[in-house]
Amino acid sequence: MDSITDTQLKDVIRNGKGAGMPKYADFTDHQVDALVRYIRSLSQSP
Ligand code: HEM
Repeated sequence: MDSITDTQLKDVIRNGKGAGMPKYADFTDHQVDALVRYIRSLSQSP
């Protein structure tokens, strides 16, 4: 998770990736920012 930037995460969420990850083009900036924070929170060490 350290190797991917917030900008790259936002890009994957907005535009999708590969054959399996759908794009979420309708999400607002606020929603995408919240998702990035949530994804980061999942990989925090205790
Ligand atoms: C809001 C919901 C979702 C978020 C925030 C999300 C986020 C992500 C992120 C951050 C990645 C990692 C990309 C990378 O490693 O560069 C990813 C990959 C992936 N996601 Fe999602 N995802 C969501 C929903 C879904 C759904 C609904 C599916 C399938 C039905 C899905 C299927 C996949 C697949 C297959 C990949 C791997 C893509 C690849 O590397 O080829 N995702 N997703």
